[in-house]
Amino acid sequence: MAASSSSVSLLISCSFCLLSFLALSSALQTAASRRDGRSRISSLISQQLFDSFFLHKDDPACPANNFYTYASFLQASTSFPKFGNTGSQVRRRREVAAFLAQVSHETTGGWPTAPDGPFAWGLCFKEEVSPQSDYCDSTNKQWPCYPGRSYKGRGPIQLSNFNYGQAGKALGFDGLRNPEIVSNNSLVSFKTALWFWMTEQKPKPSCHKVMVGRYVRTRDDLAANRTVGFGMVTNIINGGLECGLPNDGRVNDRIGYFQRYANLFGVDTGPNLDCQYQKPFN
Ligand SMILES: *[C@@H]1O[C@H](CO)[C@@H](O)[C@H](O)[C@H]1NC(C)=O
Ligand SMILES: *[C@@H]1O[C@H](CO)[C@@H](O)[C@H](O)[C@H]1NC(C)=O
Repeated sequence: MAASSSSVSLLISCSFCLLSFLALSSALQTAASRRDGRSRISSLISQQLFDSFFLHKDDPACPANNFYTYASFLQASTSFPKFGNTGSQVRRRREVAAFLAQVSHETTGGWPTAPDGPFAWGLCFKEEVSPQSDYCDSTNKQWPCYPGRSYKGRGPIQLSNFNYGQAGKALGFDGLRNPEIVSNNSLVSFKTALWFWMTEQKPKPSCHKVMVGRYVRTRDDLAANRTVGFGMVTNIINGGLECGLPNDGRVNDRIGYFQRYANLFGVDTGPNLDCQYQKPFN
């Protein structure tokens, strides 16, 4: 009796043991993967898939060759835990595809008859080649230019003008004094692009919120015919120059990249790819 009751209690305590062990180890695993954003983004995009997007980024012909790495992209994404981590699996992949498409247009080395097509040439450039000016707004007192610095486009999103001040403040570097770091440090470079993607700059929503389908249009958006989708993200990034125009080549290049990447991710693009019928944000 004594033996069997103790073996019963042993059994009970052992299955309890096992259950708590399982619960504990799964809690530890969850905490670890939460800490390690790398495994989160890498579960959406492997090195192999990433390489298939950017077939030519490391070609000697590309000025950014060997600058933009998969590892620095993953590492940078750990600073933005909601990136590629909001909503359904389709939404997550679509958001990452949209982000990589927009940065590909910003840094493209492609042309219509390029090897592997015009949309295999993202991340080819890391800085603007012939800037029209140093993009200094000398009237901006909040983000004053530092003498002798150029705020031309740099990095995956081609950060420019006073955005250097804002991005630097958010990410912990002096962007107005050291804008060059965006084109000589791959990790900082990807962080500036993700910062831009994730950050609302009123009256514009964040690109992230739009792509994950969580943006509710304002009255101004309705009046400006700004529908929610990839086209609105283009509007956020460069709508003042590209939106509201019929069949704009730059807009079409962005869309071409997005269609190719969404296809490689195995997801559809969602509606409203274009911004040709949208007014820009003010
Ligand atoms: C990178 O940029 C920073 C900031 O401007 C500068 O201090 C540093 O010398 C640069 N490094 C290289 C290798 O160009
Ligand atoms: C609003 O945009 C849609 C496409 O999203 C277009 O079909 C429609 O004609 C536009 N309306 C106006 C008034 O521009």
